[in-house]
Amino acid sequence: MKIKNHIHKEEYKIEFDKDLKKYLSNLNQRYYKISVITDENIYKIYKNILNKKYLNTIKIKPGEKSKSIENKIMIEKKLLKLKFNRKSVIVALGGGVVGDLVGFVASTFLRGIDLIQIPTSLVAMVDSSIGGKTGINNDLGKNLIGTFYNPKKIIVNSSFLKTLPESELRQGLAEIIKYGVIYDLRLFKLLEKININFMENSNQIINKIIKNCIAIKVKVVEEDFKETDKRSILNFGHTVGHGLEKLYSYKKSHGDCIGLGMAIEASIANKYFDLNDESLNKIYKILDRFALRSIRYSSTQIKSIIKYMELDKKNKTNKITFSLPNKIGSIMLKNKKHTIEVSKEKINTVLKEFL
Ligand SMILES: NC(=O)c1ccc[n+]([C@@H]2O[C@H](COP(=O)([O-])OP(=O)(O)OC[C@H]3O[C@@H](n4cnc5c(N)ncnc54)[C@H](O)[C@@H]3O)[C@@H](O)[C@H]2O)c1
Ligand SMILES: [Zn+2]
Repeated sequence: MKIKNHIHKEEYKIEFDKDLKKYLSNLNQRYYKISVITDENIYKIYKNILNKKYLNTIKIKPGEKSKSIENKIMIEKKLLKLKFNRKSVIVALGGGVVGDLVGFVASTFLRGIDLIQIPTSLVAMVDSSIGGKTGINNDLGKNLIGTFYNPKKIIVNSSFLKTLPESELRQGLAEIIKYGVIYDLRLFKLLEKININFMENSNQIINKIIKNCIAIKVKVVEEDFKETDKRSILNFGHTVGHGLEKLYSYKKSHGDCIGLGMAIEASIANKYFDLNDESLNKIYKILDRFALRSIRYSSTQIKSIIKYMELDKKNKTNKITFSLPNKIGSIMLKNKKHTIEVSKEKINTVLKEFL
């Protein structure tokens, strides 16, 4: 699959099913130096491959806290000491945390060096490794500092998922459901049928779903790299979801928050716009099928949820902006835009219905 690179006007590629060991050794032959950056969990699993000296493997601690300026500096120092130059390459082997951090490092190191993304989590495969958003967190918020920077290649191999914990698979499933609702009725219908234990599905089905989601993200991002309109359809469920994440101080998982977020936003689409009852119920059902509508909040917290939603950086005005489905597989267009502003009163009404 080839993708336009909107920054350098050249294409980059997504390749499937490469063997990690062979791929890294081939890469080494093509570059002056290589460094694989990964987290400790993944390092433990692939130690026999990653402990080779020529790979200059750098490890970070697993978890969101690692998307930090301190880690960026630590990696840069190591690369400089190793005398990395523009003929070198860095490989981000891991989930979205590794991918976002390492992507950011690659984009600024010597003003940008080659980057290869090898996503190992379901979220990274279907979402974070594609689209060129990189970034780190800051005391004042998540993903506030970063760049748009595309890798040279993305290497996707679903066999990495065999070791991914169940709770992490669910994070990816929430995003996969999102793709079905916003873009692809056939994908949605497939999700209604498959084994809810994702890894118990055949490789063929798993790969089909992953490729489907990648194709959707690639297409949407190609149309609107810097998120002026169309790309915002990927935020379905995330406007409320981000409010819930902040309410719970990021103690609840992203997947659970956007799961309930999708239910609430679909309900807004049904109550005030064009989504019919049947479609709404199907969305509820699929979220329940994967246990992605389980978190709760109290009536006294509704005000805070709305306040946190307003603070979301994606809102350009004081009103709250959503991308809402008009049917399964499609986002509503109003005045030629894929977003719509909804009053706080209406949001408040729907939030109360979910108590
Ligand atoms: N750039 C983007 O467009 C974009 C999009 C979505 C999410 N994100 C970011 O991605 C991050 C979330 O990504 P994530 O869900 O992959 O989290 P993550 O990177 O923290 O990985 C989740 C956990 O799974 C472990 N893991 C990963 N692959 C494994 C494997 N194959 N086997 C065993 N364990 C494995 C990790 O060590 C970690 O403990 C967030 O920081 C989010 O902001 C970015
Ligand atoms: Zn998300």
